[in-house]
Amino acid sequence: MNEIKLFCPATIANVSCGFDVLGLCLESTGDQMLIRKVSTPGVRITKIEGQQLPLEAEKNVAGVAALALLKDLDLDFGFEIEIIKIIKPGSGIGSSAASAAGAVFGINKLLGMPFNPTQLVGFAIQGEALASGTAHADNVAPALLGGFTLVKGYTPLEVIKLNTPKQLFATVIHPQIEVKTADARSVLKQSIPLKKAIVQWGNLAGLVSALYTEDYELLSRCLHDEIIEPMRSPLIPGFHKVKEAVNKAGALGSGISGSGPSIFALSKGKAMAEKVAVAMGDVYKDFGVDYDLHISGINTEGVKVLS
Ligand code: HSE
Repeated sequence: MNEIKLFCPATIANVSCGFDVLGLCLESTGDQMLIRKVSTPGVRITKIEGQQLPLEAEKNVAGVAALALLKDLDLDFGFEIEIIKIIKPGSGIGSSAASAAGAVFGINKLLGMPFNPTQLVGFAIQGEALASGTAHADNVAPALLGGFTLVKGYTPLEVIKLNTPKQLFATVIHPQIEVKTADARSVLKQSIPLKKAIVQWGNLAGLVSALYTEDYELLSRCLHDEIIEPMRSPLIPGFHKVKEAVNKAGALGSGISGSGPSIFALSKGKAMAEKVAVAMGDVYKDFGVDYDLHISGINTEGVKVLS
């Protein structure tokens, strides 16, 4: 195999109560990537469609992730990467992660799979570090492993794939404003009250339990963010109105997708996810803010080989 074409999925990081550790993978939206083995060593990004992003490998998240993977391999050949960007940078649904995950997944395949998924996450977070200044793994892990993932620890890196309840659907609204992850991280206080931490880790543990028991009511009670959401929600116009509308429509819960400005909701069943999408859209119509909407099942596979 000398060439591979991939679907590189969008992801929702944090999922309310799991800042920097929890994430899930979406089915309905993502980028495409073509990776070709070539005789010249190194990594070259030869084409990017859909967005203005740097072609220099060292300045591109896919390039940096690929270079991290190749660093200790002494290869006498290299790789060319073409990217069709569908996920807008700064949208909050893992645009940089899709590129980083796709690059390491595809090159690993073309090399005969020398690396395991956790090692791939370790390479891909180098791309995240370039994009946001922090090597957070909560988007690249679900993009690579699929489903819900938990970053159990960063040093050493330990990633666990969790169960995905079968009837779970996500709705994501992306108001057309850009919030850079680095900016959304700069508003975060570095210490938190113990009382809030107790609520947060209770919810995170409860949510993990709910994923395995497929207890949608427990899942709903755990979809709260005591810590990050109050600090970031002022960056997102209409955030509280959207949450209110989503709850009224019957979603299990909602929150900021990654670092925003997208807002996600989880629902039991596709019909409810569609109803939630209408409720979300109505809020932004009132605000006069343009938006994209995604209704998606949970992608339990992660990056997919298209050909
Ligand atoms: N955990 C990261 C953050 C995700 O919230 O900053 C960014 O998509």
